Amino acid sequence: MSVIELTINDRAVRTEVEPRVHLGDFLRETQHLTGTHLGCEHGVCGACTVLVDDMPVRSCITFALACEQQQVRTIEGFDNDELMRRIRHAFSIHHGLQCGYCTPGMLITARDIILRFPDADEARIRLELSGNLCRCTGYMGIVASIEAVLQDLRDNPIVAQDAPREIPREQIISTPATFQTFTATADEAVKPAAPDAVAAARSEPTAQTQRKGWTAIDDSFVVPFPLEKVWAFMGDLPSVTACLPGAELVEHDGESVKGKIAIKFGPMSANFAGAARLDRDDAAHRAVMRGAGQDNISRSRANGDVTYTLTREDGGTQTRVAVTLEYMLQGPLAQFSRSGLVKDFVRRMIADFGARITAQLGGNAAPEAATEQTKFNVGSLVWSVIWGRIRRLFGKAD
Ligand code: FES
Ligand code: FES
Repeated sequence: MSVIELTINDRAVRTEVEPRVHLGDFLRETQHLTGTHLGCEHGVCGACTVLVDDMPVRSCITFALACEQQQVRTIEGFDNDELMRRIRHAFSIHHGLQCGYCTPGMLITARDIILRFPDADEARIRLELSGNLCRCTGYMGIVASIEAVLQDLRDNPIVAQDAPREIPREQIISTPATFQTFTATADEAVKPAAPDAVAAARSEPTAQTQRKGWTAIDDSFVVPFPLEKVWAFMGDLPSVTACLPGAELVEHDGESVKGKIAIKFGPMSANFAGAARLDRDDAAHRAVMRGAGQDNISRSRANGDVTYTLTREDGGTQTRVAVTLEYMLQGPLAQFSRSGLVKDFVRRMIADFGARITAQLGGNAAPEAATEQTKFNVGSLVWSVIWGRIRRLFGKAD
């Protein structure tokens, strides 16, 4: 058992907790706050949503211990919140609930949407709500409730309500002109970028400042081989693909490739099929792989650019590979793209990619083929990420 100190609904709590207990169970079983509902317990349905330091989190996949010294707010903690009072009233008027199981999570998410997007239209509301599932209402009443509260706030602002929460630019995902269910494999979804578009992308500054709705992750790794050898290897698309966990090359023609990548992140599985184009600058030892794909299971779409730049290190005996991954997800998986856990997960993938390249260049081990076993290994990265976070929480080196 470990001792935890946190604040729950403005009440200071100090108690013992098992390190592996998740926040949802902790709230329900030890704090008797049963307004937090547990549905899937896999981070998918959103029923268990609570606020931690004013950010909505899924309490079923958050360790209670990770909330040390933080402010947790459950649905029971909004009794004096005028905005929540209006949202509850609107849900009642507009039939935003039936059985009520999803409702605590829906209300907390709705409040967060209203605070972040005071001018949200229906498309924005549906996009932001896509991480909360309701099996009863068909969502019409829930969306109408949020629209009604937004209008009400314009007509009758709340004095002293929480200020709208500032949204980091990279967390804003653009909405389609008209919100619609994604159709499977539209051609545009898998079309690689034109060469001049790739060239233009190369000269763009960092994605966070330029591309609304994209998430950018920078990382690097060092391989103990001279730059020329690494550069030549990185141009061999089948070999590079084989070093990417879960990736499979379907066909390639010069600089253009078609392929698949299987991702398993906890309960989520996705198999993105798509196409990409590699553009290399031999003088600068810099390359951009720009691609797009679609997961036909979740009907999520992804656009992504991987930029890598090679520089000599240690007198030329080693090479640093600086990688920038920029991506945008649309559809049901979009909700996961913004979490810190996913960013850590991607960083682990980049590190794993570097280790595989080192092994391949050294002739020590052939990279695994894209098999079920590879997918499993990708999934297991999640646990190393979570373990790394726990170690950091307790001040130990990762
Ligand atoms: S119970 Fe937590 S997301 Fe479903
Ligand atoms: S009201 Fe029943 S699941 Fe949403």
